[in-house]
Amino acid sequence: MQLKTLLLPLSLAAVAIADGESVLAAITEIGDESLVLNDVISSWNGHLLTAIPIIFQSTSLLSTINDGTETAEASENLTLAESIQVATAVTELQTSVNTTLETTIARKPDFDKLLLSTTILLSLNQLKDASGEFSDALVSKLPEALQPTGESLAAEIEDSFNYAISIYNPFD
Ligand SMILES: *[C@@H]1O[C@H](CO)[C@@H](O)[C@H](O)[C@H]1NC(C)=O
Ligand SMILES: *[C@@H]1O[C@H](CO)[C@@H](O)[C@H](O)[C@H]1NC(C)=O
Repeated sequence: MQLKTLLLPLSLAAVAIADGESVLAAITEIGDESLVLNDVISSWNGHLLTAIPIIFQSTSLLSTINDGTETAEASENLTLAESIQVATAVTELQTSVNTTLETTIARKPDFDKLLLSTTILLSLNQLKDASGEFSDALVSKLPEALQPTGESLAAEIEDSFNYAISIYNPFD
């Protein structure tokens, strides 16, 4: 058998694995950016000028989520093994999102004082929408049997956003 014939299935496998890896890397990056935002918010001294990095970091998180959606949309369907890794990574991401949103909720009185709560609310809504699109793209790449699990993980993240949004929404 020729070497080329031997290597062909290997290179195809490599492509499939690289796809799962790029999706996993996107999830990890979103979680990392989320935790950076958490640190920026929790270490904020409550002054107007030092609030700028909070806006900057949440914009950066938003674009990382949007990049992740593009990566997930461009991915092949995930294999079962990849899907399990993705589900585990999303469970970790959910914890990071919970932490960041809890911190955001805790600082609301400080944002209120500077009339920044509307800006934070806008940003929470944008992040929620972007993360919904990311979840949809991820779920569409899971094997059908795992899609309900993917959807319920996505719903937990959405609930978390809805809770934070309800606290920031003056009309709630
Ligand atoms: C990917 O998976 C979805 C649902 O699990 C299925 O409908 C679709 O046909 C698959 N696409 C490919 C290219 O296998
Ligand atoms: C974070 O998780 C805790 C424990 O499950 C829960 O009580 C809380 O409401 C969650 N907060 C957010 C913002 O999702």
